[in-house]
Amino acid sequence: MVQISPQEIEAAANFLRAKVNFPLQAGIILGSGLSALAERAEKSVAVPYGSIPHFPQSTVEGHTGRFVGGFIEDTSVLMMQGRVHFYEGYPMAQVAMGVRLMAALGVRTIILTNAAGAVNTAFTPGDFMLIQDHLNLMFQNPLIGRHYPEWGERFVDQTDTYSPVLMSRARGVAKALNIPLREGVYAGLTGPTYETPAEIRMLRALGADACGMSTVPEAIVARQCGMRVLGISIITNMGAGIASPLHHSEVVEIAEKRKGDFQNLVMGII
Ligand code: HPA
Repeated sequence: MVQISPQEIEAAANFLRAKVNFPLQAGIILGSGLSALAERAEKSVAVPYGSIPHFPQSTVEGHTGRFVGGFIEDTSVLMMQGRVHFYEGYPMAQVAMGVRLMAALGVRTIILTNAAGAVNTAFTPGDFMLIQDHLNLMFQNPLIGRHYPEWGERFVDQTDTYSPVLMSRARGVAKALNIPLREGVYAGLTGPTYETPAEIRMLRALGADACGMSTVPEAIVARQCGMRVLGISIITNMGAGIASPLHHSEVVEIAEKRKGDFQNLVMGII
């Protein structure tokens, strides 16, 4: 099993710290089609993943692949423009390495965003969903392997994975901005196939409201690092079998259409 050592994290963190050399108040991972938020940061510095020692490369269309440090409304943030997915073939520890790096740079609050398919038939493409909790259906865990006590606990409590305090702030901001905000359970699957209609029915029976191919490993590592986590999904399509067949271009298109409100929501929360 490929693992990441504290020495590798330290080398990568030192490299990143030399470029993003100001204290950080928050981290944000920008999902499919949402990466434009990074362009709204002021005094920004961009660091491509490819330049960072030991860091995996993002290979997905629509995912840029760089850290962007800067200021959003006077709050210093470190953003990941494009993430690393398990379906790209990286081991879980590497999939969530960006979160560990953020922790090493002092990030204590993280916003995880993603594009997701609706499992809940009351949802509509273009909706935003606050992630209340998740189902880890990747049947993998980024904390499997050697345990380094300096990284946090071996057995991480997942009761309040998504911070109730941040959720209530998000609700308040959405209300003030008049942006409807759904809430629900996010099911994380490996992909890269979309689900079958039978799987979507199964997910509904299991209590999921939306499904996607990311976020879960990042939330787990963030909690081990002691971060406060907020998760927001853009519902880009109805799950398989509910409406028409799915295509990645539709996911990107809906995310693109809704990026204005999404950015306003995240900036308000920040
Ligand atoms: N399924 C899984 N991942 C997704 C979907 C979906 O329907 N839409 C966007 N990401």
